[in-house]
Amino acid sequence: MSLPIVRTVAELRKTVAGWRRDGANVAVVPTMGALHEGHLSLVQAARKDADRVIVTLFVNPKQFNNASDLSGYPRTEESDAAKLAPLGTDLLYAPGVDEIYPEGFSTNISVDGVSQGLCGAHRPGHFDGVATVVTKLFLQTGADLAYFGEKDFQQLQVVKQLVRDLDIPIEVVGCPTVREEDGLAMSSRNVHLSEPQRRSAPSKSEILFDVARRLSRGAPVDETLASGKQAILDAGFDEVEYLELRADEGLLPIDRLDRPARLLSAAWLGETRLIDNVKVEPR
Ligand code: PAF
Repeated sequence: MSLPIVRTVAELRKTVAGWRRDGANVAVVPTMGALHEGHLSLVQAARKDADRVIVTLFVNPKQFNNASDLSGYPRTEESDAAKLAPLGTDLLYAPGVDEIYPEGFSTNISVDGVSQGLCGAHRPGHFDGVATVVTKLFLQTGADLAYFGEKDFQQLQVVKQLVRDLDIPIEVVGCPTVREEDGLAMSSRNVHLSEPQRRSAPSKSEILFDVARRLSRGAPVDETLASGKQAILDAGFDEVEYLELRADEGLLPIDRLDRPARLLSAAWLGETRLIDNVKVEPR
Protein backbone atom coordinates (compact mmCIF):
# COMPACT_ATOMS: atom_id res chain seq x y z
CA MET A 1 0.00 0.00 0.00
CA SER A 2 1.73 3.18 -1.05
CA LEU A 3 0.62 6.63 -0.10
CA PRO A 4 0.63 9.40 -2.73
CA ILE A 5 2.78 12.33 -1.61
CA VAL A 6 2.49 15.83 -3.09
CA ARG A 7 4.75 18.77 -2.33
CA THR A 8 3.18 21.70 -4.16
CA VAL A 9 -0.08 23.62 -3.76
CA ALA A 10 -0.73 23.12 -7.49
CA GLU A 11 -0.58 19.29 -7.22
CA LEU A 12 -2.64 19.38 -4.03
CA ARG A 13 -5.39 21.52 -5.58
CA LYS A 14 -5.50 19.34 -8.72
CA THR A 15 -6.02 16.20 -6.63
CA VAL A 16 -8.69 17.80 -4.44
CA ALA A 17 -10.49 19.21 -7.52
CA GLY A 18 -10.73 15.64 -8.90
CA TRP A 19 -12.25 14.40 -5.64
CA ARG A 20 -14.71 17.29 -5.60
CA ARG A 21 -15.87 16.40 -9.14
CA ASP A 22 -16.76 12.97 -7.74
CA GLY A 23 -18.77 14.65 -4.95
CA ALA A 24 -16.38 13.69 -2.14
CA ASN A 25 -16.10 15.57 1.15
CA VAL A 26 -12.57 16.14 2.38
CA ALA A 27 -10.87 16.11 5.79
CA VAL A 28 -7.44 17.44 6.71
CA VAL A 29 -5.22 16.41 9.62
CA PRO A 30 -2.43 19.01 10.02
CA THR A 31 0.77 17.59 11.56
CA MET A 32 4.47 18.30 11.88
CA GLY A 33 5.26 14.61 11.42
CA ALA A 34 7.01 12.31 13.93
CA LEU A 35 3.64 10.63 14.07
CA HIS A 36 2.45 8.70 17.13
CA GLU A 37 -0.81 7.05 18.14
CA GLY A 38 -2.28 10.46 19.00
CA HIS A 39 -1.92 11.63 15.38
CA LEU A 40 -3.14 8.30 14.07
CA SER A 41 -6.30 8.60 16.19
CA LEU A 42 -7.01 11.91 14.41
CA VAL A 43 -6.60 10.22 11.04
CA GLN A 44 -8.94 7.41 12.14
CA ALA A 45 -11.56 9.96 13.27
CA ALA A 46 -11.21 11.80 9.95
CA ARG A 47 -11.50 8.53 8.03
CA LYS A 48 -14.87 7.81 9.70
CA ASP A 49 -16.32 11.23 8.83
CA ALA A 50 -14.95 12.02 5.37
CA ASP A 51 -14.67 10.41 1.94
CA ARG A 52 -11.10 11.65 1.48
CA VAL A 53 -8.40 12.30 4.07
CA ILE A 54 -5.34 14.51 3.59
CA VAL A 55 -2.56 14.51 6.19
CA THR A 56 -0.23 17.50 6.04
CA LEU A 57 3.37 17.23 7.18
CA PHE A 58 5.18 20.51 7.61
CA VAL A 59 7.60 21.45 10.39
CA ASN A 60 6.56 25.08 10.58
CA PRO A 61 9.56 27.32 11.36
CA LYS A 62 7.28 30.26 12.25
CA GLN A 63 5.91 28.55 15.35
CA PHE A 64 9.30 27.78 16.93
CA ASN A 65 10.69 30.49 19.15
CA ASN A 66 13.93 28.62 19.69
CA ALA A 67 16.36 27.67 16.88
CA SER A 68 17.65 24.50 18.57
CA ASP A 69 14.06 23.30 19.18
CA LEU A 70 13.41 23.68 15.43
CA SER A 71 16.64 22.01 14.32
CA GLY A 72 16.18 19.15 16.83
CA TYR A 73 12.53 18.50 15.90
CA PRO A 74 12.26 14.85 14.78
CA ARG A 75 11.86 14.45 11.00
CA THR A 76 10.70 11.00 10.01
CA GLU A 77 8.76 11.33 6.76
CA GLU A 78 9.38 7.79 5.52
CA SER A 79 8.15 6.08 8.67
CA ASP A 80 5.28 8.61 8.96
CA ALA A 81 4.10 7.66 5.46
CA ALA A 82 4.36 3.96 6.37
CA LYS A 83 2.09 4.53 9.40
CA LEU A 84 -0.47 6.52 7.39
CA ALA A 85 -0.89 4.22 4.40
CA PRO A 86 -2.67 1.34 6.22
CA LEU A 87 -5.16 3.77 7.77
CA GLY A 88 -6.56 4.62 4.36
CA THR A 89 -5.03 8.10 4.14
CA ASP A 90 -5.61 9.36 0.61
CA LEU A 91 -2.83 11.92 0.36
CA LEU A 92 0.21 13.21 2.23
CA TYR A 93 0.88 16.89 1.58
CA ALA A 94 4.50 17.53 2.57
CA PRO A 95 5.52 20.93 1.21
CA GLY A 96 8.97 22.48 1.62
CA VAL A 97 9.46 25.75 3.48
CA ASP A 98 9.60 27.74 0.19
CA GLU A 99 6.22 26.40 -0.88
CA ILE A 100 4.55 27.66 2.30
CA TYR A 101 6.64 30.82 2.79
CA PRO A 102 7.89 31.89 -0.66
CA GLU A 103 10.26 34.83 -0.86
CA GLY A 104 8.43 38.02 0.02
CA PHE A 105 5.88 36.30 2.28
CA SER A 106 4.80 38.99 4.73
CA THR A 107 1.42 38.10 6.25
CA ASN A 108 0.91 37.25 9.90
CA ILE A 109 -2.33 35.93 11.40
CA SER A 110 -2.61 36.85 15.05
CA VAL A 111 -5.52 35.73 17.24
CA ASP A 112 -6.14 37.81 20.38
CA GLY A 113 -7.72 36.56 23.59
CA VAL A 114 -7.32 32.78 23.60
CA SER A 115 -3.66 33.09 22.46
CA GLN A 116 -2.75 35.07 25.55
CA GLY A 117 -1.35 33.55 28.73
CA LEU A 118 -0.47 29.85 29.16
CA CYS A 119 1.78 28.75 26.24
CA GLY A 120 1.23 32.14 24.59
CA ALA A 121 3.00 33.86 27.49
CA HIS A 122 5.99 31.49 27.42
CA ARG A 123 6.42 31.03 23.67
CA PRO A 124 6.26 34.52 22.10
CA GLY A 125 5.03 34.38 18.50
CA HIS A 126 4.17 30.68 18.70
CA PHE A 127 0.42 31.02 18.17
CA ASP A 128 0.88 33.59 15.39
CA GLY A 129 3.02 30.97 13.64
CA VAL A 130 0.38 28.27 14.22
CA ALA A 131 -2.51 30.51 13.13
CA THR A 132 -0.67 31.61 9.97
CA VAL A 133 0.27 28.12 8.81
CA VAL A 134 -3.09 26.56 9.72
CA THR A 135 -4.93 29.28 7.79
CA LYS A 136 -2.72 28.54 4.77
CA LEU A 137 -3.26 24.78 5.06
CA PHE A 138 -7.04 25.26 5.30
CA LEU A 139 -7.08 27.50 2.23
CA GLN A 140 -4.70 25.29 0.26
CA THR A 141 -6.56 22.03 0.94
CA GLY A 142 -10.05 23.57 0.86
CA ALA A 143 -11.05 20.79 3.29
CA ASP A 144 -14.51 20.58 4.88
CA LEU A 145 -13.28 19.15 8.19
CA ALA A 146 -10.07 19.53 10.22
CA TYR A 147 -8.90 17.36 13.14
CA PHE A 148 -6.79 18.52 16.10
CA GLY A 149 -5.84 16.84 19.37
CA GLU A 150 -7.05 18.21 22.71
CA LYS A 151 -3.55 17.73 24.10
CA ASP A 152 -2.74 21.11 22.54
CA PHE A 153 -5.91 22.55 24.03
CA GLN A 154 -4.97 26.21 23.68
CA GLN A 155 -3.97 25.62 20.04
CA LEU A 156 -7.37 24.02 19.40
CA GLN A 157 -9.13 27.13 20.81
CA VAL A 158 -6.91 29.42 18.69
CA VAL A 159 -7.79 27.47 15.54
CA LYS A 160 -11.54 27.49 16.35
CA GLN A 161 -11.40 31.24 16.95
CA LEU A 162 -9.61 32.03 13.68
CA VAL A 163 -12.04 29.88 11.68
CA ARG A 164 -14.98 31.75 13.26
CA ASP A 165 -13.40 35.19 12.81
CA LEU A 166 -12.24 34.69 9.21
CA ASP A 167 -15.38 32.78 8.08
CA ILE A 168 -13.30 29.88 6.82
CA PRO A 169 -15.79 27.21 5.70
CA ILE A 170 -14.31 24.32 7.66
CA GLU A 171 -15.49 22.42 10.74
CA VAL A 172 -12.79 22.06 13.41
CA VAL A 173 -13.07 18.77 15.32
CA GLY A 174 -11.23 18.33 18.66
CA CYS A 175 -10.24 14.76 19.57
CA PRO A 176 -9.32 13.39 23.03
CA THR A 177 -5.68 13.21 24.17
CA VAL A 178 -4.16 9.78 23.64
CA ARG A 179 -2.02 8.55 26.55
CA GLU A 180 0.63 5.89 27.03
CA GLU A 181 -0.35 3.03 29.36
CA ASP A 182 1.28 4.87 32.27
CA GLY A 183 -0.77 8.01 31.57
CA LEU A 184 1.84 10.17 29.82
CA ALA A 185 0.21 12.22 27.06
CA MET A 186 1.63 11.17 23.70
CA SER A 187 3.86 13.81 22.14
CA SER A 188 6.51 13.93 19.43
CA ARG A 189 8.79 15.48 22.07
CA ASN A 190 8.69 12.40 24.33
CA VAL A 191 11.52 10.86 22.25
CA HIS A 192 13.86 13.47 23.77
CA LEU A 193 13.37 12.11 27.31
CA SER A 194 16.19 10.07 28.85
CA GLU A 195 15.20 6.79 30.55
CA PRO A 196 15.02 8.28 34.07
CA GLN A 197 13.11 11.30 32.73
CA ARG A 198 10.70 9.00 30.91
CA ARG A 199 10.05 7.21 34.23
CA SER A 200 9.31 10.54 36.00
CA ALA A 201 7.23 12.04 33.17
CA PRO A 202 3.87 10.31 33.86
CA SER A 203 3.78 11.68 37.41
CA LYS A 204 2.73 15.07 36.04
CA SER A 205 -0.38 13.56 34.42
CA GLU A 206 -1.20 11.75 37.70
CA ILE A 207 -0.87 15.05 39.57
CA LEU A 208 -3.11 16.81 37.04
CA PHE A 209 -5.83 14.19 37.45
CA ASP A 210 -5.47 14.36 41.24
CA VAL A 211 -5.68 18.19 41.31
CA ALA A 212 -8.70 18.03 38.97
CA ARG A 213 -10.43 15.55 41.33
CA ARG A 214 -9.75 17.74 44.36
CA LEU A 215 -11.06 20.85 42.58
CA SER A 216 -14.20 19.00 41.50
CA ARG A 217 -14.82 18.07 45.14
CA GLY A 218 -14.72 21.76 46.09
CA ALA A 219 -11.07 22.30 47.19
CA PRO A 220 -10.01 26.00 47.07
CA VAL A 221 -8.52 26.83 43.65
CA ASP A 222 -5.42 28.88 44.60
CA GLU A 223 -4.17 26.55 47.34
CA THR A 224 -4.85 23.42 45.31
CA LEU A 225 -2.95 24.80 42.30
CA ALA A 226 -0.02 25.83 44.52
CA SER A 227 0.20 22.35 46.06
CA GLY A 228 -0.10 20.80 42.58
CA LYS A 229 2.86 22.89 41.33
CA GLN A 230 4.94 21.82 44.29
CA ALA A 231 3.99 18.17 43.70
CA ILE A 232 5.22 18.44 40.07
CA LEU A 233 8.57 19.82 41.26
CA ASP A 234 8.79 17.12 43.97
CA ALA A 235 8.23 14.51 41.24
CA GLY A 236 11.52 15.60 39.60
CA PHE A 237 10.46 18.30 37.12
CA ASP A 238 12.93 21.20 36.89
CA GLU A 239 10.47 24.03 36.28
CA VAL A 240 6.70 24.49 36.19
CA GLU A 241 5.87 27.19 33.64
CA TYR A 242 2.22 27.16 34.60
CA LEU A 243 -0.51 25.15 36.23
CA GLU A 244 -3.74 27.04 35.70
CA LEU A 245 -7.47 26.60 35.83
CA ARG A 246 -9.30 28.15 32.88
CA ALA A 247 -12.90 28.11 31.62
CA ASP A 248 -13.31 25.26 29.12
CA GLU A 249 -15.05 27.68 26.73
CA GLY A 250 -12.92 30.73 25.86
CA LEU A 251 -10.07 29.84 28.24
CA LEU A 252 -10.68 32.81 30.57
CA PRO A 253 -8.88 32.53 33.93
CA ILE A 254 -11.26 31.49 36.74
CA ASP A 255 -10.70 31.38 40.48
CA ARG A 256 -13.90 29.45 41.30
CA LEU A 257 -15.04 26.21 39.73
CA ASP A 258 -18.48 27.50 38.71
CA ARG A 259 -18.49 26.11 35.14
CA PRO A 260 -16.80 23.34 33.13
CA ALA A 261 -13.09 24.08 33.21
CA ARG A 262 -9.64 22.89 32.07
CA LEU A 263 -6.60 22.41 34.18
CA LEU A 264 -3.60 23.14 31.94
CA SER A 265 0.10 22.80 32.60
CA ALA A 266 3.54 23.10 31.03
CA ALA A 267 6.67 21.95 32.83
CA TRP A 268 10.27 21.21 31.96
CA LEU A 269 11.99 17.91 32.53
CA GLY A 270 15.60 18.71 31.66
CA GLU A 271 15.56 20.15 28.14
CA THR A 272 12.10 18.81 27.32
CA ARG A 273 8.95 20.85 27.74
CA LEU A 274 5.86 18.75 28.40
CA ILE A 275 2.31 20.12 28.18
CA ASP A 276 -0.89 18.43 29.24
CA ASN A 277 -4.42 19.29 30.32
CA VAL A 278 -7.48 17.64 31.81
CA LYS A 279 -11.13 18.57 32.00
CA VAL A 280 -12.49 19.67 35.40
CA GLU A 281 -16.22 19.38 36.04
CA PRO A 282 -17.89 21.41 38.79
CA ARG A 283 -19.68 19.36 41.45
O1 PAF B 1 0.03 20.61 16.44
C1 PAF B 1 0.87 20.65 15.52
O2 PAF B 1 1.49 19.65 15.16
C2 PAF B 1 1.14 21.97 14.81
O3 PAF B 1 1.06 23.03 15.71
C3 PAF B 1 0.22 22.21 13.60
C4 PAF B 1 -1.24 22.31 14.00
C5 PAF B 1 0.40 21.08 12.59
C6 PAF B 1 0.61 23.52 12.89
O4 PAF B 1 1.92 23.50 12.46
